[in-house]
Amino acid sequence: MIRLSAPAKLNLSLRVVGRRADGYHEIETLFERIDLCDELAFEPHGELALTCTEPALSCGEDNLVLRAARALQQASGLTRGARIHLAKRIPIAAGLGGGSSDAAAALLGLNALWDLRWPPGRLAELGAGVGSDVAFFLGEAPFAIGRGRGERCEPLAGVRPLAHVLAVPPDRLTTKDIFAAWDQEAALEISLTAPPSSISMVTHALRNGSLGELAKGLRNDLQPIAIRRCPVIATIQSSLSRLGCEGVSVSGSGPAVFGLCRDAAQAEAVAGSLRRHPWRVEVVQTWRGEPASKVSVRWGVV
Ligand code: C5P
Repeated sequence: MIRLSAPAKLNLSLRVVGRRADGYHEIETLFERIDLCDELAFEPHGELALTCTEPALSCGEDNLVLRAARALQQASGLTRGARIHLAKRIPIAAGLGGGSSDAAAALLGLNALWDLRWPPGRLAELGAGVGSDVAFFLGEAPFAIGRGRGERCEPLAGVRPLAHVLAVPPDRLTTKDIFAAWDQEAALEISLTAPPSSISMVTHALRNGSLGELAKGLRNDLQPIAIRRCPVIATIQSSLSRLGCEGVSVSGSGPAVFGLCRDAAQAEAVAGSLRRHPWRVEVVQTWRGEPASKVSVRWGVV
C-alpha cells in the first residue's frame, strides 16, 4: 500500500489581472503549502474505486481524485485500477486547495503504483486540466508564485517557515461562483482602487523574513466578493486583528481566513481565544515535510 499526505495551501497574495477567452481568469498569486493535510492510500485493484471519510463529499466520477486517476489512466493507455481511500481533514470548498491537492496526490500515488515513471512536468501538464492549483501541489517548494490560471508555478527558495491561525466558518463558497461574481460586481471597483502590484512586496518580505512588510502586502482581490457572500468573514478578520495577528486575509476564494503570527506560540494563544466560536480553528505552519513527489518516487522504487 502507498500512503501520501496531501497538504492544503494559503494564498498570501491573489491578484486577478484579467479575464481569458477560455472563461478562466489570469491571476498572479503567492502560494504557501501548509501542514494541514488529507491522507490518501492506494492499493492495487482491478478497477478504480474511491472511498472517503467525509460523507458530504461525493466519491463518484466528479471527485477530483477520480478525475485525476481517469486522466492518468487514459493518457497512459493503462487498464489497471486502484483502490483509493481518502481521509479528509482539509475543509471542503474553503479556499484551501484540498481538492486540487488530493488530485495531485492521486497522480503521484498512481504514477508510483502503476510504475509509470512519468516526470513531474508531464504530471503537471495533465494535472492542470484537472484543477488550476494541481501543478503547485505537484511541485516541491513550500512557497511558489503562480501565474496564468495559477498553474504556471515558479518556486520561491530560501523562505523561512511561517505560523498562522486558520479560522474557517461552516459556509462553503465555490471558486466558480466567486470568480463569476467578480466579473459582475468587482472588476471595476478593484481595478480602480488596487495599488499597482503587491506580489513583489510579498516576495521581498518573505525573502527578508520581514513579518511587518509581509502583513502590509497581504492581499486578495476575491476577498470583497467572498465577504459579500459570507459576511462572517469580516467578523473573523476583526477578531484575529484584535487578538494581535500581524495581518489577516482570506485564502483563495474563501471563506477560510488566516492570521499571520510571529510564531507558533502566538498562534496557539490566538487560537485558544477563538475556540468558543462556531468556526473551525487550527494552528497551521508552513509545510516542512518531504514533498509528496519525493515520497511517491521512493515508493515506486520499493
Ligand atoms: O481550476 P479549478 O477547477 O480550480 O477552477 C474552478 C473554477 O474557478 C473554474 O471553473 C473557473 O470558473 C474559476 N477559475 C477562474 N480562473 C482561475 C481559476 C479558476 O475563473 N484562474
